[in-house]
Order: sequence, then structure tokens, then C-alpha cells
Amino acid sequence: MPLTGRKTLTQYLIEQRRRFPQASGDFNALILDVAMACKAIARAVGKGALAGSHGAQTTELGGKSINVQGETQQKLDVLANDYFLRITEWSGHLAGMASEELEEPYQIPAQFARGKYLLVFDPLDGSSNIDVNLTVGSIFSVLRAPNPDAALSEQDFLQPGNQQVAAGYALYGPSTMFVLSVGDGVAGFTLDTDLGEFMLTHPRMQIPATTQEFAINASNARFWEAPVKRYVDECLAGKSGPREKDFNMRWIASMVAEAHRILTRGGVFLYPRDSKDASKPGRLRLLYEANPIGFLIEQAGGRASTGRKPMLDEQPSQLHQRIGLVFGSRNEVERIERYHAEPL
Ligand code: AHG
Ligand code: MN
Ligand code: MN
Ligand code: MN
Repeated sequence: MPLTGRKTLTQYLIEQRRRFPQASGDFNALILDVAMACKAIARAVGKGALAGSHGAQTTELGGKSINVQGETQQKLDVLANDYFLRITEWSGHLAGMASEELEEPYQIPAQFARGKYLLVFDPLDGSSNIDVNLTVGSIFSVLRAPNPDAALSEQDFLQPGNQQVAAGYALYGPSTMFVLSVGDGVAGFTLDTDLGEFMLTHPRMQIPATTQEFAINASNARFWEAPVKRYVDECLAGKSGPREKDFNMRWIASMVAEAHRILTRGGVFLYPRDSKDASKPGRLRLLYEANPIGFLIEQAGGRASTGRKPMLDEQPSQLHQRIGLVFGSRNEVERIERYHAEPL
């Protein structure tokens, strides 16, 4: 144990690596680069309006920059994306990357060596919260490259979430945190801004199986499917309803912050499939939002689902595919799955 009395992220990774005596160290180096990118983003987010990085990204012609999702890109979406690329591409650990902000998979530039992992990320989650100075985060997933020596293709990324080697997020809130699973539970680290190190503060995050707190964007209620309506109605009915207890509700509009609350004290989050837009079977993206968060939630004893089946069993068909997502305390997610399975 160092003088500070807490383990650093580096120490945690070295200890985890002892489970795999043949490991080369590439994986640990990759995670440390991702953590470095998150520290750089934390600094940019923390400077706020002073850094001139609030607001929408503009194009060379002065218009608003739109990403493949059809969303207006914030300046910080673009900056965070660049930090992820620049801080990880050089190392020789990656065969390629994919990001919410890039339409196509990112090829490792020819001057750098290629490696055996794929990195997939949402550089800034909750970016509508940037300009109002509320919590945002970054989400990432590490996969093995199926063909590390062949040319990179979209197909390489289309792996179900249960194939993830690791997943995690950084949270840029009152303190900056880095929350990680390498497949052996979930560990949370808090940034010590004096040392510039992530220190282990939450060694084994566990989600309680029961909860009285749910999170959903209720403005979409008219578009919900019947099982979701039923679930929310029953929560709202409180003590006198079939659940026989009162529920509380939260909505931050940064999924990563909702996931962190749920990993800390339980709860359930729904961004379900709905009928709002026929071209979008859900709001959130499978590869860089639902799968990494699903991996962490399951590693903490919770459950992540499409409503119909375990999220991590879903076979992706497209890089930017969207999906309905339900995650959190196990008993609630199982109940929502039951409602989907029951005839109306
Ligand atoms: P992003 O900022 O990466 O595009 O993701 C935003 C997502 C997610 O974080 C959040 O839960 C959801 O969008 C909020 O959606 P609503 O605007 O419908 O509340
Ligand atoms: Mn976005
Ligand atoms: Mn997001
Ligand atoms: Mn984003």
C-alpha cells in the first residue's frame, strides 16, 4: 500500500494481471491510456466556460456540425473524441477504434503499430448537460480484435456484449471517477487532483437486488409499449397499488450518471424501445452505451436487458445500432422482463 493509504489504478491493474500469468501487459497499458484520456477530458470539462469549449461545434462554413446520429455535436464531444484517439492510437495495443462521433471505424494510422484489441467509446455521454454544468461522462468497451492482422472492418466490432474483455466509464461530476470492470467485479477510483492519480475508493461495487427508485424520461410516456406503461403505472401507484410501496424517481439525462447512482445505491433505469421514431428502436446505442454499462451492471450483481433478453446476448448488426435498454437492481429488471413476456 502506498503512503497515501490507497491503491492506485496502476496497482489495481497489476494485481488483476496476476490472474493471467501469460498476460503481456498490453491490456493494462491500454486501460492506463484510456484513463489518461479521461483525465484530459476531466480537465477540459472542469474549466467550463472559461476554456471557451461550451456550445455547439461549428463547421468550416459556419453551420452546426452534425454526427452520424443526426445530433448536433458539442465542442466537447469533438474534443473528447480527439483525446481518446490521440492518447490511445500510438501505443501498438489497438487494431482499431469506433466512436459515437465517427461514422466509420477508426483505422490506426500507418506510422503506428497495430495490436490485438478494439476500443469502442462514447467520448462524452450526456452532452446536452455540458452547457448547464451538470454531470457528464465517457463510456468505453474493450473487445478482442477477431482478425488483428487483417484490414479493419465494421464486422470486427459486431460482437455481443458478453465478449467484452473490459468496460468502464469516467464520470465528470463533483469529483472525477473512473469505474472499471476487467471481468472480476467492479472497482471505482476517484481522481486525486493533487497527485493526478485515480485512487481506489470503491473496491467492489454491488447493486442491491431491490429498490424503490426508478429512472425514465416520462415525456415519452405516450410512445411506450404496454409492459413499460404497466411497470411505471404500478410504481406511480405507490403503497396503495400492486407494488404496495412508494417509489421515487430521478432523471439526469446522462445515462452514465444514472448508471453510477444505480451502482452506488441501486435503482432501475429504462430507456425502452418505443414508437417515437420508427427508424430508431430505442434511443441508446448498443456498442458504446448499452453493452459497456450492461457489463458493469452485471459484474456488480445487477441485470441489464433489452426488456426481452439479456443485453449482453444481443448480436449486434450495425456499429451505431440503437436498442431499448433496462438495467439496475435485479428484481426490478426481472419484473420488467416478466411483463414483456406475459400476454396482455
Ligand atoms: P450522448 O450525449 O452521448 O448523445 O447520450 C445522451 C443519452 C444518454 O446519456 C441519456 O440518458 C439520454 O441520451 C437522454 O435522453 P433524453 O434527451 O431523451 O432525456
Ligand atoms: Mn451524442
Ligand atoms: Mn451517450
Ligand atoms: Mn456521446
